[in-house]
Amino acid sequence: MPNDILTYSSDDSHGIVSGASLPVDEEHEILSLRPDRLPDYVGQADAVETLKIAIEAAKKRNEPLDHVLFHGPPGLGKTTLAHIIANEMGKNLTVTSGPALEKGGDLIGILTHLEEGDVLFVDEIHRIPRTVEEFLYPAMEDFAVDFVFDKGVHARSHRYRLKQFTLVGATTRVGLLSAPLRDRFGIFRSLDFYNENDLVKISKRSALLLDVSMDTEGAEELAKRSRGTPRIVNRLLKRVRDYAQVRADGVITKKNVASALSLEGVDEKGLTNLDRRYLKTVIEFYNGGPVGIEAIAATLQEETDTLVDVVEPYLLKIGLITRTSSGRKASKHAYKHFSTLPPTH
Ligand SMILES: Nc1ncnc2c1ncn2[C@@H]1O[C@H](COP(=O)(O)OP(=O)(O)OP(=O)(O)O)[C@@H](O)[C@H]1O
Ligand SMILES: [Mg+2]
Repeated sequence: MPNDILTYSSDDSHGIVSGASLPVDEEHEILSLRPDRLPDYVGQADAVETLKIAIEAAKKRNEPLDHVLFHGPPGLGKTTLAHIIANEMGKNLTVTSGPALEKGGDLIGILTHLEEGDVLFVDEIHRIPRTVEEFLYPAMEDFAVDFVFDKGVHARSHRYRLKQFTLVGATTRVGLLSAPLRDRFGIFRSLDFYNENDLVKISKRSALLLDVSMDTEGAEELAKRSRGTPRIVNRLLKRVRDYAQVRADGVITKKNVASALSLEGVDEKGLTNLDRRYLKTVIEFYNGGPVGIEAIAATLQEETDTLVDVVEPYLLKIGLITRTSSGRKASKHAYKHFSTLPPTH
């Protein structure tokens, strides 16, 4: 098995049974802010309702839950939901990711170790190599894997029965998923950016868990500047906590949030330096667009994937850019954000 597979057990409150290096957002403190039950999960009402019904029905029938696919920009709670599903079903969670599954054997090793009803979470599922993906089809549909021994005329195949498990996939790019894989998921939910109310709730919950005091205006300001994303709420909350403890009396207020976050380069709309560089490139370098993403990436010297996955979804959401068939364009709101005027054609 590849060594970056983590196994979580539903009765282990810290969750980690085995695992070596942890990605940034799996750090202990951030992990502790992660809700582990459905009632603690804020927002995404439709997705939560679908899951609630499916989980309850599966439990009633004493069956494993249907395979679930989550889609949406980074930091909106896909991994969190995978953990919650395992907890609510009272089963173990095994975590891996598309790029970690290099060979068919990697996946088979994991599948054959799953117990009845266990949840297998595959992050970045759009990055599973095609050869590995083919093992997933019979595994998802018939709970079986087919081994092939020998080659050519001597080839024999053997079908190995798996325990019935639930696959939870997460992806930021559903368009890159092959149709046969997508069609094998019974439940498909896309997560959208959170509204301000929900972000206020998340920030208050996290502040409570981190034991910092924050007034309502402080929470609202933090929510406004968090790009609709719970992960960013939590990250910024920690920066603001440091600021409030060192430069003020420890209480998080609107003023502290504004001062701390302007030090971080986060403006009143929640845009980061990279967001602003992106917009300025389109506006100043390409005269407002339309301009292709590759050209923007080359000018910014950033990966196209980063721009498409991380930067653009929120700029599109709040209407600062538009996507047309001929490329990206800055909207009039983008010009307004920089207090400049659009060019008059
Ligand atoms: N609905 C929610 N309520 C409260 N906190 C949340 C919610 N969703 C996410 N969070 C917080 O945001 C953090 C990031 O969420 P998560 O890791 O699940 O995002 P993700 O969608 O898997 O992102 P990525 O695509 O980058 O893997 C979590 O650690 C959790 O603390
Ligand atoms: Mg994740």
